[in-house]
Amino acid sequence: MITFEGAAKIYPDGTVAVAGLDLTVETGRTTVFVGPSGSGKTTSLRMINRMVEPTHGTIRIDGADIRDQDPALLRRSIGYVIQQAGLFPHRTILDNIATVPLLLGWNRRKARARAAELMELVGLEASQAKRYPHQLSGGQQQRVGVARALAADPPVLLMDEPFSAVDPVVRAGLQEELLRLQQELHKTIVFVTHDIDEAVRLGDRIAVFRPGGELAQYDAPEHLLARPVDDFVESFVGYDRGVRRLSFFPARQLSLRQDVVFDTEDRVERARDVVEGDGEPWVLVVDENRTPLGWVDAAQLIDKPAGLTLGTLEMAPYGHTFDVATDSLRAALDAAVLSPAGRAVGVDDEGAVLGVVSQEDLGAAIWSVSE
Ligand SMILES: Nc1ncnc2c1ncn2[C@@H]1O[C@H](COP(=O)(O)OP(=O)(O)OP(=O)(O)O)[C@@H](O)[C@H]1O
Ligand SMILES: [Mg+2]
Repeated sequence: MITFEGAAKIYPDGTVAVAGLDLTVETGRTTVFVGPSGSGKTTSLRMINRMVEPTHGTIRIDGADIRDQDPALLRRSIGYVIQQAGLFPHRTILDNIATVPLLLGWNRRKARARAAELMELVGLEASQAKRYPHQLSGGQQQRVGVARALAADPPVLLMDEPFSAVDPVVRAGLQEELLRLQQELHKTIVFVTHDIDEAVRLGDRIAVFRPGGELAQYDAPEHLLARPVDDFVESFVGYDRGVRRLSFFPARQLSLRQDVVFDTEDRVERARDVVEGDGEPWVLVVDENRTPLGWVDAAQLIDKPAGLTLGTLEMAPYGHTFDVATDSLRAALDAAVLSPAGRAVGVDDEGAVLGVVSQEDLGAAIWSVSE
């Protein structure tokens, strides 16, 4: 547990970088500091490993005042990852990762073995061990940065905008990896970002900073999105916070209709009975493995002769699907919006159709989680 008790940083020129922060970072969880430029995120982060000394207040790690600890030793016990990785350009990838273990006095063989193990953990190829940083992509360099920070297995990991210099696709991949690593390692992570989406994705708790180095709100992501404390936080979390919040609710709660799902051998009159029964304007056609093939517009069924099979009709593309077991309501809503039929198709982990969510049911589910 890391506690900030009235911790402040006021520079000699009068700049208030951090104005009296009171905050507890929980052990084994990911806490994200988010806020506009200049709001004191980096300063707060660096106060934890004494790269910045507070001018007021106290910071403790598991109860111990960090002022009583040797700064160099403290820093070796805390992993630190920054934007563009900050790797040593003239050291190989393996030696970059082995830096802290070597500083801690491990023998070279043990340090390199540990570095090789970490390369695998963060998803780097063993063949890259002997390369130099400039021979890797930006995303790979960030992985090296993470591996290096984890090398001595520190309980605490500080990450200052580690993924902001890579493109959105690579960034999403790195976020995914960090979530996976954290599930395995349970580090106490403090992660700084400008990006509220990244914060919501990674954080167990989110601290929103406002200009002037003040803490505006400290909350679980779903609470932050549901109940921003004031106009500043509300505008910072964005106008689409309602949709974003749906990612915290499982799609599993949706009811799935099977009666509008047909296979290619089913006859038009069967489908017609269903759509005429309750006015559903579309039916979904699947193959023998229940893989979706496409939507048939109900209007097409009206004048077709009985006996014709659905596989012979024109179909609109089925669009996107959602995984009923693992996806969120947000993914289901997205699938509906992206479907030509305006309806979401729920599938199992093999892509077989489990059912279709009607707009009424999707609307009702969204309503039931809104306040
Ligand atoms: N050495 C310094 N002397 C005076 N002011 C400083 C110094 N270092 C930082 N500051 C000021 O402290 C404030 C907070 O800076 P900090 O780097 O913590 O912000 P940040 O939230 O990390 O911003 P960004 O999102 O741009 O990285 C800023 O106004 C900055 O100009
Ligand atoms: Mg910063």
